[in-house]
Formats: sequence, structure tokens, C-alpha cells
Amino acid sequence: MSFELKPKTYDWRYLLGLPFACEPLCTVGVVAQKIITGVVNVLWVLVEAKFIDFAIGCALGQAAMKEAYPLLAVMLLIIFWKRIGYSFGRILTNKVQISSAYQMNREAVKKRSRMHYSLIEDQESWELARRVCKDMEDNVWGMLQNTCNFLVGVVRTGGVLIIIFTESAWLGVMMVLVSVPLIYFSVTSGGRIYKAFKESSAFARRSEYLQGIMTGRDTVEERTLFDFTAHTNQEWNSRREQYQKISLLAETGKEKRNVGSGMLTNLISTVMVCFLILELSRGSISIGIFISLSKAIYDMINLMNNEIGRSVIIMARYVAYMKDLTVFANLKETEGTNDLPSEQPQRFESLVLKNVFFRYPGTEQYILNGMSMELERGQHYAFVGENGAGKTTVTKLLTGLYDDYEGSILLNGRELRDYAPAEIKAMFSNVWQDFARYQDTVANNILVGDIRHMEEKKARERMEGYAGELDICEEMNRLPQGFDTPLGKLSDHSVDLSGGQWQRVAMARSLMNPAPIQILDEPTAALDPVSESRLYEEFEKISEGRTTIFISHRLGSTKLANQIFVLKGGRIEESGSHEELMKSQGLYARMYESQKSWYEEESMRKGEASA
Ligand SMILES: Nc1ncnc2c1ncn2[C@@H]1O[C@H](COP(=O)(O)OP(=O)(O)OP(=O)(O)O)[C@@H](O)[C@H]1O
Ligand SMILES: [Mg+2]
Repeated sequence: MSFELKPKTYDWRYLLGLPFACEPLCTVGVVAQKIITGVVNVLWVLVEAKFIDFAIGCALGQAAMKEAYPLLAVMLLIIFWKRIGYSFGRILTNKVQISSAYQMNREAVKKRSRMHYSLIEDQESWELARRVCKDMEDNVWGMLQNTCNFLVGVVRTGGVLIIIFTESAWLGVMMVLVSVPLIYFSVTSGGRIYKAFKESSAFARRSEYLQGIMTGRDTVEERTLFDFTAHTNQEWNSRREQYQKISLLAETGKEKRNVGSGMLTNLISTVMVCFLILELSRGSISIGIFISLSKAIYDMINLMNNEIGRSVIIMARYVAYMKDLTVFANLKETEGTNDLPSEQPQRFESLVLKNVFFRYPGTEQYILNGMSMELERGQHYAFVGENGAGKTTVTKLLTGLYDDYEGSILLNGRELRDYAPAEIKAMFSNVWQDFARYQDTVANNILVGDIRHMEEKKARERMEGYAGELDICEEMNRLPQGFDTPLGKLSDHSVDLSGGQWQRVAMARSLMNPAPIQILDEPTAALDPVSESRLYEEFEKISEGRTTIFISHRLGSTKLANQIFVLKGGRIEESGSHEELMKSQGLYARMYESQKSWYEEESMRKGEASA
């Protein structure tokens, strides 16, 4: 059996088959231990009966002690088995559990990383993926456990029924007759309880989220400053109240059912025991069989009523889970998304967008509305425009994250969507607007940009070179373990960087990547306009020979670009060099005029310095 999550329909057989595929011997051991325990429980009924009869025989002076030895030996064996079998079962269980959870999680992580980018940005798909992965371990293991318990129940019930039939056939028939409505009642009420709990879990999810906001680390600064705890607390309380109300109803329903079924169980058991007394008084069964069978009947009826109901609830959960797993496994994937960037150095010649239209999946509004532009090797470009103009969206299309655009994007004369992901990865390197801050060492935060060579000594030298050029080498060397200092807030030894330092680390990471096109999507928001402008200048010098695209709202930073594209409403409103755009007195010139004062001081300072 293959573990791989493929696009197909999954059912309980997959969950049940997994432990057998991961750890066949151990899983067979677990199942065997459960079945033997079931058989042993039935055997105990007979041995106990014989023992009671022997004890009565002894009391009446009709039995000799030596008759007890084989009985005692069997009883001891059963007791030993129960003890050893239980521990043996636990050890095997742990092994199966750890191994199947590992395999499943690995598959889930792989599937998540293959997911089409549009689905990652889609809240519903992301939530589904999170839910499926979170419950995976419990469900894989629970399915096996539930099936084993069911098997034990069948063995025990079957065994006790056989004993009853051999002792009294009509009593056996009665027993079968009462079990039919009992099982029916158990199955239907199990289904109702599951529904009630499912309803309450929707409220529980929102409550959990709100609790995270009130106690989580990510929100601590804003929580302290804005002091929204009381406000959130109010919503949390009201959600919690609704949740409590629904789950209380579910619990009450469950308890009502327990009381009802408990009474029914006891009533049926008592009636059956009365029949047993009848058989006893007729002399057709021994006292030993009467006592041990009475106990077994109580246990059996209880098992049919309660355990079957519980199994139904658990099975209903698995059926719902398998539906989720099927949707998850069938989520659209990007072929080759896990491939490393192509090893061959990529040569960039030209990038041409011709009348490109694009809207995000599941939305109506076009974000790119007939965008056209041409980019050439070795030039420096800038995208400017107001919030929501479509600047980041273009970069998502260029880097292949979305390929369902209309119009055409020609990279070196070939349609972009015909490139393999490995080729696109080798062509572009980005610092995204919301770049990642890895809770890892400074070195790994930067080296990961060149994943193919990150372990090589030369890569480390390049890393320090870029860090130096971006003005963070000395600061990083001053950290407790230099470039090997862990960053973030995870461990006691880790340190956190300032917003500006993180941005430079992200830029160094991008530069590590040998891709010929470097895109900076405004990762410099933590810097003042003048520092940003200087950093962009620096970046441009370092990336000499490569093609750069800078995105910024601060036009001092983009002024040096060979060509500036001004985006508005998903189109290019105007384009040209800074001087050309200033001359044409359009949108760019107006934007620049309004920001001019930011840079005047700096140019005066420069002027003084050169004088
Ligand atoms: N995943 C998405 N799904 C749906 N709409 C989106 C998505 N991402 C962005 N948009 C919409 O696309 C439009 C353009 O967004 P984009 O991020 O490209 O703007 P931008 O020019 O980069 O803006 P900013 O300067 O604020 O970064 C916005 O109206 C935004 O709401
Ligand atoms: Mg943006």
C-alpha cells in the first residue's frame, strides 16, 4: 500500500490500512493481542464457572483438591496473559502510533507544499489543510483502536452467546432477539450525539481563535497598546456562552440517553438473569455457570448498548474526516513545485507583458486590466503607484505563483506558463513585501537564498560579503555567536533584530540567489525615505549585471531606475525615466512633487559635502 496522498476518494480502508502498511508485524501483534484478550475473557466465564462449582463441591465434600490444579493453572495463565498482554500491547501500540503518525504527517506536509499557490491564499482551503493535518495522528490511530475494540466486542459477544446456546438454546434465541433493538437504539442515538457535538465544535473554533488573540505572542504589542483585551473578551464570552449552551445540550442529551439506556440495559439483563434462575431451578445449568454467565450477560448487554453507540460516534467522526481528507488530497497542485531551482545558470534577455488581464481565483474584479510592458537584461526598473494598484500582483504573475492570466507574458520570447517551476525559480529572486523571518541562525536566514550551495564554504564567504555591502556584517558579528546566533523568540539564546536589520537580512538572502532578475517589493518600510533610497542605491550597485525591479511608494528610491512604470488601476498609466516623467507633468510628477521635501534636506547635505 502506498502512503502517498493522491487525488482520489479516501475512505475508512485507507485509515485502517495505514498502520498495517507502516508497521505490519507490530500492527498484526496489536490486533492479535486484542483478539486473544477477547477470547480469554470468554474462557474466563467457563473457568470461573468451573471454579465456583468446584468450590461448592469442596464445601459439600464432593470434590478432591487435585481437581483444582488444572483449573488454577488455567486461571493463572489467564491472569498472566491479561497483565503481560496489556503491556506488550501498549509497547506495540506506541510503535505503530509513532510510525504511522510520522508517515502520514510527512505525506500531509508534502501535499501542503505541492498545493497550488492560489489555494494557499484561499482561507477555506488553508483552514481545511490545517484541520486535516492537525487531526491526522488521532484519526489514524483511533481508527485502528476503534476497529480492535469492535473486534474484541464481537469476539466477547459471540463467545458468550455460544456458551448461552450450549447451556440453553431458547435462552440463546432470546438473547439474540433482545440485542437487535438494543443495537438499533445504540446506533441511532450515537449518530444524534455526534451531530450535536459537531455543531458545538464550530463555536469552539472561533473561541479558540479569540483566546489566541488575547493570550498569543504575536498580538502582545498591539494588545498592550490598544488594550483590546476587554473588547475581545466580550466577544469571546458571548461565543463561549453559545458554545457552552450547545455542548451542554449535547451533554444533557448524552446523559439522558445514558440514563435511559442504563435502565433498559439493567432491565433486560435482570430479565435474562431471571430466565437463568429458571434454568438453574430446573437443574439444567450448574451454580457456577449461573453466577459467571449472569455477570457475562450484564457485561455483554452493556457492551452492546454503550460500546456500539460510542463506536458509531467515533466512526461518524472518521467518515467526516475522510471527506475532509479526500477534498484535501484532491486540492489542485502545481507540478514541480517542490523541485529545486534549475542548476543551469539562466540567461535573461527580455520579459514582455502583452495586454495582461488577471483576477484572483474566485473573484470577479480584474486586478490587472490590460497591462503591457517590456523589460530588458541588465536594466533597473521601478514599479510605483498607489495602494492596490497591482504592483505585488504583477510580481506574483512573473514568479509563476498564478498562471491563469489572460494575454501573454513572454520570458525570453517564450510564454511564461510553459516554463517548468524549476526554471522560473532560477530566473527570479524576490524580497516580498511581507518577507519571512526564519527562527534560525542569521547565517541560515541568508544562506537559504542559495539552497543548492548553502553548505559550501564559498557560500558563507559570499554571504558575509553581501552582509558587509548591506551594512549589517559588523552588527551581526557583534551578536553572541556572530552569524551563528539564532534569531527570533524561540530559544533562550536567540536574539531579535530590529525591523531594518531584518529587512537587510532578507535582501542579503535574495542576493545570495544567483537568479538574474531581482525583485524588491517594498521590504524597506521600516526605513526612513532617505535611508531607503540609499539602501536601494546600494542594492543596485551590488546586483550589478542583474536586472532589478524595485517597488516603492517613495519615489526618491526609484528615481535612479532606467525606466519607471507608473501603475494605476491594473494598467501602466505612464512610463519613462525620472526626468522624462517629470517633464511630462503627469501622475508621477505630481506624486514626486508631494514627496520632494523628504529628499531636499538630503540633497542639500550632499551638495554641502561636495562643495
Ligand atoms: N489573494 C488575493 N485575493 C483577492 N484579491 C487580492 C488578493 N491579493 C490582492 N488582492 C487585491 O488585488 C489588488 C491589488 O493588490 P496588490 O497587492 O497587487 O497591490 P499593490 O499595488 O501591491 O498595493 P500596495 O502598495 O498596498 O502593496 C488589491 O485591491 C487587493 O485587494
Ligand atoms: Mg504590494
